[in-house]
Formats: sequence, C-alpha cells, structure tokens
Amino acid sequence: MAVTLLIHKLGPKGDGVHLSQRGRVYVDRALPGDSVEAEIHPDDDGVLRGDLVRVVQSSPHRVTAPCPNYGFCGGCTLQHAGEAFYRNWKLGIVRDALQKRGLKPKVWRDPVFLPGGNRRRATFAAFKKNNQVTLGYFRRRSHQVTDIASCLIADPAIMDLRARLTVGLAPILQEGKGADVFVQTVNGRFDMVITGPIGRKGVPDLQLREALTLLARQAGLDRISWRAGEKASLEAMIETSPLVAKFGSLDVALPPQAFLQPTKAGEMALVEAVMELLPQRGKFADLFSGCGTFTGPMLGHGSVDAYESVEPAIRALMKAKGPRVPRAFRRDLFRNPLRRDEANRYDAIVFDPPRAGAQEQVKALAAGKVPLLIGVSCNPATFARDARILVDGGYWLQSVKVVDQFTWSHHVELVASFTKRSK
Ligand SMILES: C[S@@+](CC[C@H](N)C(=O)[O-])C[C@H]1O[C@@H](n2cnc3c(N)ncnc32)[C@H](O)[C@@H]1O
Repeated sequence: MAVTLLIHKLGPKGDGVHLSQRGRVYVDRALPGDSVEAEIHPDDDGVLRGDLVRVVQSSPHRVTAPCPNYGFCGGCTLQHAGEAFYRNWKLGIVRDALQKRGLKPKVWRDPVFLPGGNRRRATFAAFKKNNQVTLGYFRRRSHQVTDIASCLIADPAIMDLRARLTVGLAPILQEGKGADVFVQTVNGRFDMVITGPIGRKGVPDLQLREALTLLARQAGLDRISWRAGEKASLEAMIETSPLVAKFGSLDVALPPQAFLQPTKAGEMALVEAVMELLPQRGKFADLFSGCGTFTGPMLGHGSVDAYESVEPAIRALMKAKGPRVPRAFRRDLFRNPLRRDEANRYDAIVFDPPRAGAQEQVKALAAGKVPLLIGVSCNPATFARDARILVDGGYWLQSVKVVDQFTWSHHVELVASFTKRSK
C-alpha cells in the first residue's frame, strides 16, 4: 500500500530520507521538500525502502532529468536535482564527513564541478540470447541488463563503440551466458577487456582468435584482453601497438584495464590541484601511484619515488619514457606502509588511496616529520578518518578542494594538504 511521506534530507547514496519515530525510510529519486507517495518495504538488510509511486508536491529543487533513460537506468542518481542544490549537496558530503571527525580546513579552495559527457571508461553488462548481444547497464535496483543506447555521462566515443560491439561481440560471447565488457579510451584509442566465458568452449581457441582479430579491425579496437573471471589473470590477445598515456612529460605504455581517472578533465583538475601545492623543487613520493597520473607531472618539480601494489602498473612505470623517470616500487601499503624513517626522507608526499583509504599508511606518516602531505581521495568518509589521524599526530589540515568528476552520482573527490606543526 502506498503512503504519503515528506522527504527531509538526502541520504549518503542520494536517496531521499523520510525521518519518523519509526525510523528512516529511504525513497529513491526523492528530494528534500518533496511530498511523495511511496510503497514501503524492508530490504534484505531490514532497511525501510520506499518505491516512489508519484510526487504529490515537488521540492523547489526538483528539475526534469535531462536523460531519457533516467527512469530505468541505474547509472545516475541525481539528475532530478537542480544545479545549485546538487553542488551544495556535494560540498556538504565532504564538509559533513570532516565535521563528524571534528575537522575543518583552514582554507576551502574553489571547488571544480565538471560536466557529464566525458567518462572515458565503462563496464557494460553483456548477454547473448538467440545470437543477439545486449550490451547495457544494469536496470535501477536490479540485476537485469538493459540495452541503453545513449548516455549523458559517457564520452560519446564510448557509446559509439558500444553500438559497434553489440554486433561485433555476437560471434565471441557464449549463447545464454553473461560477460562483463570493460572499455576505456586512451587518447582516442580503445582498450577492451572481456571477463567471462567466450568461444565454443568458454576459452579462446583458434577460431575465436580469428574472430577477435576481425572484431578489433571492424570495431576499431586497439587492444582486446580476456580473462575467465574477476580473479583470473588477464591475457592480452590482440594489441595493434602499445596504448600510451602521457602524464606530464612521462610516456607510460598502459597495461590492460589500467586505472585512469574516470575523466580526462577530472585528471587535469586533480593534477593541477596537487601541483599548485607541491614545492618547486624537492624529493617526493607518490603513494598509491597507479600508472603515474601524479608521478609524471611531479617529476617536473624534482625526483619522485612511486609506490603501488599492482604489478602491471609498477612494471609500466619502470619502463616509462621521458626526460626524467621515477623510481618505481611495488609495495602493499596496507600491509607494509612506508615506515616513518623512509617517509622522512621526502620533502612532500602525495597519497591517493582506493576507497578504503590509507589508515595504516597515515599512522606511520602521522608519527613522521614530512613537511607537506597531499591527500587525494574519492571517499570523504575514509579520508576524514585518515585526516583525523594526521591531525592528532601533529599536522594542520591546511586546505581542501572538492573536485566533482562523478557527475550526477553520490561520489565526490577531493585534494587536501597537511603541514607539520612545529613543536
Ligand atoms: C584511486 S587509485 C589512484 C591511482 C593513481 N594515483 C591515479 O590517480 O591514477 C588507487 C591506487 O591504489 C592502488 N592500491 C590499492 N591498494 C593498494 C595497496 N594496498 N598498496 C598500494 N597500492 C594500492 C590501486 O592499485 C590504485 O592504483
């Protein structure tokens, strides 16, 4: 049965939240100030969810979502919110996460909000039935794959490629089976990784390799790699020539499915935000370096040691070419963080961990005396936890800059700086 609810605020994942004495109800696609009719039911974790039936009275922040697929696609969460509300909410996510840990930066640097339409990586869910391939996204709140031909957040080149792949993948995928298809553009060239069973036997044979060669030529793919499952090792099966990314003046031949910032504009905004903070000369470390997004530009200011746990990324950095090259070290910084004495050798350290944050690493840094730490994070909650450790260890939280490259989602990124307090 549908009930009428007033929405009081947005939850952490962008759902509208109705607060009552019975608890919270999370209503998808609802905004603060909306009065909505919703069907309430508990989800598997006992959280009360409201399925939006209709908006009875609109919030002043409500706008018409620009994407025609918004009603059913699970890709975006906040297209129905006006620009001012949306921006404020994103800034609030970072501000609130810091506040919860009793933190406030001395300076909020000007935020950057990037438009949609330039995501350069996408993972499509693929399914083949009656020799037809559906290559789309998951439907909202479901595991059903839906064929979405247009997307306002993806680089149009990715969506054009998607159209070519729906035809080209038919001879590759197995009938009645699903697979994940990852595609990434690197300077206008395409990298693709298929995860799942392929060919007649689920693994590549000669016939399949020929089909892949044809697919690469017809769809304009520069590299095709395959693995049987998420945990299996990757095999590059077709590669026309290395896919090279330029980070500063460093040329890095990327391994398959290399981590790149999701948008080029986002990469540039983050790099600029980091470089504005980095001293003009010095000895630096880049922790959680990936393939060198920050390492490359940092080399313009001095020597750089890059640390990263993923072997192909470190190997790529070791072979990178440029007027200056970094030293690259494979290291698991969760289990074996840079020790205080090792960290103290640097004039500044950049750290850009995965969503889990860098708790063990910042514990070691907090005890050290590196004059400047620059944190990049895609998770304000774990960042705030780690920032608290640094502040308790004698650092000032100098500045925070919000960078929003995950347009219309609940994700947001930031760059922060910490300086050591003198005793
Ligand atoms: C958010 S990405 C940033 C990569 C790079 N800074 C960039 O902007 O392209 C986080 C990086 O941390 C690496 N990573 C994840 N866990 C790690 C660990 N335990 N030790 C070291 N690196 C790790 C990932 O492989 C990934 O390259």
